Amino acid sequence: MAYKHKVRKPLIAGNWKMNDLKGDARSLAKSIALETKKIDLNCEVLICPPFTVLSGVKNALWGSNVKLGAQDCSWAENGAHTGDISPVMLKEVGCEYVILGHSERRTDHKETSSMVRSKAKAAHKAGLRTIICIGETLAEREAGLAKEVCEKQIMTSVPKESNGGNTVIAYEPVWAIGTGKTPTPDEVEDMHAFIRSVLVKKLGAMPAVRMRILYGGSMKPSNAEQLLSLKDVDGGLIGGASLKVEDFMSIIKKVK
Ligand code: PGA
Repeated sequence: MAYKHKVRKPLIAGNWKMNDLKGDARSLAKSIALETKKIDLNCEVLICPPFTVLSGVKNALWGSNVKLGAQDCSWAENGAHTGDISPVMLKEVGCEYVILGHSERRTDHKETSSMVRSKAKAAHKAGLRTIICIGETLAEREAGLAKEVCEKQIMTSVPKESNGGNTVIAYEPVWAIGTGKTPTPDEVEDMHAFIRSVLVKKLGAMPAVRMRILYGGSMKPSNAEQLLSLKDVDGGLIGGASLKVEDFMSIIKKVK
């Protein structure tokens, strides 16, 4: 398999967010499993459905190379945490990955970067790989603070024992999520290079070079090829377009 970067296998991850009941989730997962079997994959493929359908989706993916992930987890292993789901529970149901610190969780649930770090530590302990999300708001970008904000988020959200095997970073400018807007290719390339440099500072050269940095925010068939070809862009975290088989497959096929 020929990857763009020999040290990092690209990852295309679908974030289904709070969408799909059992029937639709199973048939979407089945179609993705079927379609991915028909092609030579140049990337790892992951889907992250809501908690309630994880088990059914796992069954639907049986025999395929498509991996399963969740969209959040608790920092605790078990105990008195009403409404929470622990990393061990996710592992038991067949998850290999968990998305943490998505901007919608940072906004809706007031999750801070240090909470994200605690969750990441717990997830790693349970043997899950984490996709840690960072990204600036429009106001922060317009104030020239985008890099400062992302650096702070990385420094605080990413546990110090993170490496390319247990952690993926997703750069998702908040203003690009679900809006159809994206930064220019130059802006994405510049930010991804900056993120890599911050990871070097935090974790050292080797873990940083091996860590995948995904772009997320309105990635779709029409812009995926360009975004995925950029240096230091090691795949995508895809929301809306991951809910349509044709769109998700079209993005997967754009990985070179
Ligand atoms: P979007 O969402 O692709 O719909 O913009 C991406 C995300 O929030 O992960």
